[in-house]
Amino acid sequence: VTGSKTAKVACLLILLTGGSLTRGSAAAVLPQDDAHMHMGVSTCASSNCHASSVPEEQSNVQQSEYTTWLFHDRHAKAFRTLESDESKQIARKLGIGKPWQAPLCLNCHADNVAIDRRGPEFQISDGVGCEACHGGSQLWLSRHTLTPYDAERNHVDGMYPTDNLAERTKLCASCHVGNSQKFATHEIMGAGHPRLGFELDAFTQRQPAHYQVDGDYIARKFNDTGVQRMLVGTAATAQSMASNLTGVLLDHEQGYPEISLFDCYSCHHSLSDVRWQPRINAPNLKPGTVILNDGVFRVLAALLGAIDRPAEVKLLRAIRQLHTASQVSIADVREAALALGEQAEQAQSLFAQRNIDKGIILKMLNRVVQLGIDGGLHDYIAAEHAVMCLDTLSQQLDETPKLTQLLDQAYALLANDDDYSAQRLRMVMRKYAKYQ
Ligand code: HEC
Ligand code: HEC
Ligand code: HEC
Ligand code: HEC
Repeated sequence: VTGSKTAKVACLLILLTGGSLTRGSAAAVLPQDDAHMHMGVSTCASSNCHASSVPEEQSNVQQSEYTTWLFHDRHAKAFRTLESDESKQIARKLGIGKPWQAPLCLNCHADNVAIDRRGPEFQISDGVGCEACHGGSQLWLSRHTLTPYDAERNHVDGMYPTDNLAERTKLCASCHVGNSQKFATHEIMGAGHPRLGFELDAFTQRQPAHYQVDGDYIARKFNDTGVQRMLVGTAATAQSMASNLTGVLLDHEQGYPEISLFDCYSCHHSLSDVRWQPRINAPNLKPGTVILNDGVFRVLAALLGAIDRPAEVKLLRAIRQLHTASQVSIADVREAALALGEQAEQAQSLFAQRNIDKGIILKMLNRVVQLGIDGGLHDYIAAEHAVMCLDTLSQQLDETPKLTQLLDQAYALLANDDDYSAQRLRMVMRKYAKYQ
């Protein structure tokens, strides 16, 4: 995490988003596994379709999506990354041959659909192209421009419901968190792959926008606001993480679960940096225990508490249960993670349906800040997620130099995960609390 988000303060009034947030939510199949032919980026890229050099004023969509993606979006370079020296080194250490040919890498760095689902113009070297997010266009390519706009038909035709925040998060998380089919394992990390972290709003703001949430967008789709992205995104990310704790990743061939499911920093820090103390939400864990990565769950609980205290208490209990289970057996972990996943799902639909007004935003801000003051951000992963949430919430306040300074200070403390100090973040959080 480097700088703070750049987007301007969005409108304060978060419109009621109604049912549209859950549109197309009948458990959408991820593009990589859909039943459709992926026709290739070039089929989207003619100048009167999506390759205009500047956004078209007259059109509902920008029509310059391809140009934005090609020149500014890291997804367009994801395949090229596999040709870098860094990737070659990772691949050498893993003994997997050429990284740009290894399914292990291609599954996240390209639209790696089965050969029989690649159209004549499909190029694997396009990296994370349009259809890696929007779904195979075999059926919708010729029909998605028909008027009037028909989201239902597009979804039936195989267009992935990126206009549903929970489904969108599941999509991003499939590569940015990993799922049972593809995961940035500790083996890959050990070979030098960067650690993955994800918060939907921060990553949406970091990705060069190829769509604009304006009047016609809201009329056709829904009011895609930063706060909703952060809330539904955090809950849906937690759901993905809980799901990873129920599946095959627990049955690692070495006899212990996949190491990347644990808090990286419970193992990785200097021995002279003696920092152990009872975790506020896992008081029974003994010193020296390797702790499951629960950072996002705890931040979710704090956010949830602003609108539903009993649900927060229940979620906190489920997190404690997960830690207790980790001291018993893998079967117990599975059961606890299942319960945790259900609660994350409930939080996600609660957030999607609730009108999040300014009062709630302030309450959420206070609760995240309080989590830091209470010592709940003792680990880097929770801190990283919390600060990104705080950023989104703060964008709903009047922008002042002081507020910007506080956020910058918080981000600065995250700049280097090796010397993250919960104590220093706590001091910034205290100032935050006073600021309001
Ligand atoms: C098919 C896998 C895949 C999907 C789906 C995906 N990403 Fe990515 N994303 C990547 C890869 C791989 C990279 C790194 C590309 C590189 O630099 O080589 C990346 C990079 C990014 C970056 C740049 C990160 C940085 O450090 O600046 C952002 C932002 C991002 N993705 C946001 C998203 C969002 C938001 C979604 C969901 C709407 C999403 N991604 C969906 C694979 C994916
Ligand atoms: C589970 C999905 C996943 C898998 C599997 C995966 N990557 Fe990545 N990789 C990502 C994402 C997402 C990013 C961007 C992380 C970010 O910036 O937040 C990334 C970033 C990278 C980067 C850093 C890019 C940069 O510009 O900083 C390299 C290098 C890389 N991956 C190489 C590989 C190689 C080689 C493999 C195969 C051994 C591989 N990746 C497998 C998802 C994955
Ligand atoms: C990393 C994922 C990702 C990739 C890659 C991607 N998109 Fe998108 N796209 C999104 C998301 C998220 C949205 C916003 C949600 C929505 O409107 O469905 C979106 C929205 C759109 C829209 C809708 C704008 C509107 O006003 O309704 C168009 C058109 C579009 N993308 C075209 C493209 C094209 C063309 C490409 C390839 C050049 C592409 N996208 C690549 C994720 C992606
Ligand atoms: C259970 C303890 C444990 C956890 C949890 C853990 N690691 Fe490791 N990690 C190790 C061990 C052991 C090594 C091998 C160290 C060595 O060879 O010197 C290692 C090696 C690494 C290396 C290579 C370092 C080197 O010097 O070559 C990286 C990078 C890494 N881990 C990243 C991570 C990330 C990212 C996470 C969290 C997603 C994580 N680790 C979680 C124990 C752990």
